[in-house]
Amino acid sequence: MTDTTIASILARRVWDSRGRPTVEAEVRLGGGARGRAIAPAGASRGTHEAIDLRDGGAALGGMDVTLALGNVNGPIAARLQGMDATDQSRVDAELIALDNTANKARLGGNATIAVSMAILHAVAMANDMPLYAWLAAGNPVRLPLPEIQIFGGGAHAGRRVDIQDFMVIATGARTFAEALTMTAEVYRAAGQAMSDAGKLQGVADEGGFWPVFDSNEEALGMLTRAIEKAGYRPGEDMAISLDIAASEFGRDGRYTLGLDRRELDRDGMIAMLLDWCGRYPIVSIEDPLAEDDREGMRAFTAAIGGRIQIIGDDYLVTSAGRVDAAASDRACNAVLIKPNQAGTVTETRAALDAGQRAGFGTIVSARSGETEDVTIVHLATGWNAGQLKVGSFARSERMAKWNEALRVEEALGPDAVFAGRAALAVNPW
Ligand code: PGA
Ligand code: ZN
Repeated sequence: MTDTTIASILARRVWDSRGRPTVEAEVRLGGGARGRAIAPAGASRGTHEAIDLRDGGAALGGMDVTLALGNVNGPIAARLQGMDATDQSRVDAELIALDNTANKARLGGNATIAVSMAILHAVAMANDMPLYAWLAAGNPVRLPLPEIQIFGGGAHAGRRVDIQDFMVIATGARTFAEALTMTAEVYRAAGQAMSDAGKLQGVADEGGFWPVFDSNEEALGMLTRAIEKAGYRPGEDMAISLDIAASEFGRDGRYTLGLDRRELDRDGMIAMLLDWCGRYPIVSIEDPLAEDDREGMRAFTAAIGGRIQIIGDDYLVTSAGRVDAAASDRACNAVLIKPNQAGTVTETRAALDAGQRAGFGTIVSARSGETEDVTIVHLATGWNAGQLKVGSFARSERMAKWNEALRVEEALGPDAVFAGRAALAVNPW
């Protein structure tokens, strides 16, 4: 048995897909195994998620991470060296105790998540197992159903449109590889349609086409036509998934749609979304109401939670406690799982477990600021989450994840099980 004692932990500054600094942690175990992981960064962040520790000041727009790096190389390394890396929950408990805040404000969630995930990688290597297999611990695994962005908006596109993600889900796909092929056809068709309309102006932060639309709803029409142009039946082979990210433009039950020049109250916002659900092949909506609008989330879920998946992202911030509360509240029926919202692997897993206990759909997700790090693909597969959200079908920080899942599917061979549309919290089929 190889020595899995933590021998050293080192942090270095690397750069994310927006050209901003971020934290990479590298862990070495006594037996020589190594693990490495990079913290991602969100733009439309929930108020209650773990804090990224940034230096502030003038340099790099205040985004530098030397304080977070110092926390890894100093107190975190000192505290964790000599511990057995195999006991992830004990290691993470030490990180939580050392930080001793509700939101990782002292050490930085960017420092803690990089270390926590690097330890996971090192242990998998020490056991000579791919990470997904190590995480599965002998339990069945499924390749996740991908939701893939076609148009980017909101905080990822200079607020050119209010809605953040216009995505598709290949509900007719029988394998992960087929889901990607189908999505590639829709992405191409959407690009062609944008070009034909004189609207092709590059891509947003997650690789979806820049949303040169005159209204939020115009994007829904264009997306539905792209599905048809690609040769798929909307709502059958290929369906629409939205991330409204309503916390970005809603507060105290009031919602301001800048593009549509409309201010809606809670009921108006719900009515607009229900109308869209009636006219477009939508199977999933994330953060339909703002993070402070519990009443709105409950009303929306009561109205349509029996027919579509309703995901809490900013609303739940990968917190097991919030998932439990939302389940008893019936405020949504699915949870987005972003490791850096929680700050450690153990807390991330706890939020996923809470979701699965509640019968929620569970979607492991990337952030808008990403890197070549592919850890989330292994979490989604090894933990049998069922769904994966990574952004669009362009830019290598996105493609690295999709391509890694293809390798996993191939490695599993005939044993590979694709979660498919059954992974959605609600199945209209
Ligand atoms: P973020 O966006 O990474 O900018 O928070 C992703 C999301 O809202 O799902
Ligand atoms: Zn979101």
